[in-house]
Amino acid sequence: MKKPTRIEREFGVPVPGEILEPEQWTRTALKKLPVHGPLDLVSLFGRKAPLIVDLGCGNGRFLIGSALERPEFDHIGIDILPMVLRYATRRGNQRGLGNLRFAAIDAQRFVGEFLTTQSVREVHCYHPQPFHDARDMEKRLLTPTFLVQVFRILETGGQFFVQTDNTPYWEYLTRIASVFFAFREQSGPWPDALAGRTRREIIGIARGYAIHRGVGVKRADLSEGRVAELAGTLPAPKFDAGPRLKDLDRLESEGGAAPGPRPRRRGRSSRPCPRRRK
Ligand SMILES: C[S@@+](CC[C@H](N)C(=O)[O-])C[C@H]1O[C@@H](n2cnc3c(N)ncnc32)[C@H](O)[C@@H]1O
Repeated sequence: MKKPTRIEREFGVPVPGEILEPEQWTRTALKKLPVHGPLDLVSLFGRKAPLIVDLGCGNGRFLIGSALERPEFDHIGIDILPMVLRYATRRGNQRGLGNLRFAAIDAQRFVGEFLTTQSVREVHCYHPQPFHDARDMEKRLLTPTFLVQVFRILETGGQFFVQTDNTPYWEYLTRIASVFFAFREQSGPWPDALAGRTRREIIGIARGYAIHRGVGVKRADLSEGRVAELAGTLPAPKFDAGPRLKDLDRLESEGGAAPGPRPRRRGRSSRPCPRRRK
């Protein structure tokens, strides 16, 4: 008899893939980055394949789905908080993924030091923190200087995916991103994940918050030197991020574990449950 499939749910939405038997598990935690970059991707993955990175990946939901859907691509997710990566690595391991790694590191350092020029096919950044306290503005990730680095690591024709539920951040971002990328707004959820690609997006959609999504293709007509010059003319991210979405922040900050309260339908366990895939 076929064993029941073990599917996990997060806020009622299945986490991509299923938990395999322990002998099929892999190790997706990249516990020790070299002291100095860049990363040797061929020795890390044991092959040469196009690379997808997710900056501030949280519990890794998007990358896990992408690694399952696109086995011909390699994936690296990074987050500054080691704790959230525990959920990402556990799920990645249990799904037997060999084309996925997670590392705890600051995104600016990772992009600046560990990734070489034109080495990445897609950069993803979902819900970078807007930092509502004016004293924390300096911590905002998406600055002109950072986008110069994103531009540098992308291959020709490479894509930068970004989204946020903070409208002032979006307004700032679209202004600066359209200088470096042919940028278009995505209306509505991404077709591959109507309930949301990431944990934060799932909570936001379920609560009816506006979510801004976009994708930019690296502009082919700009040299790296010109991009750096243009960055010097752009403003720093010193906008007023407005009021916090406190309930969303609370649910999101609970990490990537199977969540407690569900936004709309309450009372069901979200632990891995034996269930057959339809
Ligand atoms: C709002 S959460 C979004 C997580 C996930 N992308 C999602 O959409 O569910 C923002 C994430 O960015 C991470 N983060 C914040 N600043 C960072 C930085 N400088 N480098 C890497 N990760 C960062 C946080 O630890 C957090 O996990």
